[in-house]
Amino acid sequence: MANLIYPLYQLMTLFTAFLNPIAFHGEPKPRVEFDSHKALFVFGDSLFDPGNNQYLNGSLPQPSATTWPYGETYFEHPTGRLSDGRIVPDFIAEFAKLPILTPYLKPGSHRFTDGTNFASAGAGVLPETNSGTIHINLQLSYFKDVEKSLRKEIGNEAAKNLLKRAVYLFSIGGNDYFNFYTMYPSATQTDQRKYVEMVIGNLTSVLKEIYGMGGRKIAFQNAGPLGCLPSMREMNPNLGGECAEELSKLAGLHNRYLASVLKKLESELPGFKYSLFDYFNSLGDRVSNPSTYGFKEGKAACCGSGTYRGSGCGGGVSGTDLFEVCSDPGEYVWFDGAHTTERTNRQLAELLWSGVPNLTRPYNIKQLFELA
Ligand SMILES: *[C@@H]1O[C@H](CO)[C@@H](O)[C@H](O)[C@H]1NC(C)=O
Ligand SMILES: *[C@@H]1O[C@H](CO)[C@@H](O)[C@H](O)[C@H]1NC(C)=O
Ligand SMILES: *[C@@H]1O[C@H](CO)[C@@H](O)[C@H](O)[C@H]1NC(C)=O
Repeated sequence: MANLIYPLYQLMTLFTAFLNPIAFHGEPKPRVEFDSHKALFVFGDSLFDPGNNQYLNGSLPQPSATTWPYGETYFEHPTGRLSDGRIVPDFIAEFAKLPILTPYLKPGSHRFTDGTNFASAGAGVLPETNSGTIHINLQLSYFKDVEKSLRKEIGNEAAKNLLKRAVYLFSIGGNDYFNFYTMYPSATQTDQRKYVEMVIGNLTSVLKEIYGMGGRKIAFQNAGPLGCLPSMREMNPNLGGECAEELSKLAGLHNRYLASVLKKLESELPGFKYSLFDYFNSLGDRVSNPSTYGFKEGKAACCGSGTYRGSGCGGGVSGTDLFEVCSDPGEYVWFDGAHTTERTNRQLAELLWSGVPNLTRPYNIKQLFELA
């Protein structure tokens, strides 16, 4: 059913474009058209990457999720999304009645009036995290290019208005902490705090720049229960299958800083509104109590090799290494060692979109879209 809706939507968009004579002549389109919907700009890491890394021209040893079984559930081919199907931004776009956003780096023309997606698997806040990926400052510079194209396409005033009404959705930080944890396993609490402050400091600058460009509606999912990923259980056999608590604690520290910085920005910057989704506890609860949410398995992944199928999904560089794939990804919280299944993603997206304030606060994304 779902597979039918997407092409149908594309057909409808084509058809509407055909009926709009102004669109044909490449003249600036009437402003009213852009008042009728709001754009979505997505920034982030693998949790939100719709395939940007494929277009990085070999600066990565191997772009991820470009082999089967990635994409099998919905797209029926790998798209670069690290899941069996859709990821959270795909669902948020659907709920906001926007088309699925294409990767920003995808060659060809783009409808930036709907927004776009800059997220890059492996990316962090800090440029030194997994170099070669699109770190957050590079994503911001791409966003500045988009602003320029929008000004050209629809004029300064309409572009300004579009950026003001748009929602900016973020998932970033996890990779900075994986790196820190791997490089400094015995960091002191003071070191940890300093590192978190550096990540949050850089992130705050990005948010202020977006605000300076007119952005007003920021939506975040916080850092996840990083120590409970199948890959982390696999990498720390000494923990006997338990979560790597020290890593999850680092994410928890980041999350406390993030919550307080967003609150501070709201009080300092007139008109700044935000939504903060408690991804850490929402996902953590699914991992601990999978059956409550309709899953059979919360610890091991659907795809990969090893005890928890913590790595190797999709094979090595040639895509031929041995790995296992479950028959029904919908029974699993995790699709691979670090990324959730489409079914989990839908549940999470519903919480981001219309979650109650104990999980998504002070606004949910639906409310951000509804604001002027
Ligand atoms: C990749 O290469 C193409 C062709 O040379 C170029 O147009 C594009 O901008 C490059 N992409 C990136 C992300 O550098
Ligand atoms: C941003 O990160 C860099 C390291 O990449 C650090 O030197 C700098 O102090 C950070 N900036 C802020 C405002 O925290
Ligand atoms: C949040 O509130 C909902 C409904 O009010 C409740 O069912 C749920 O258990 C609460 N979740 C948490 C994590 O407190």
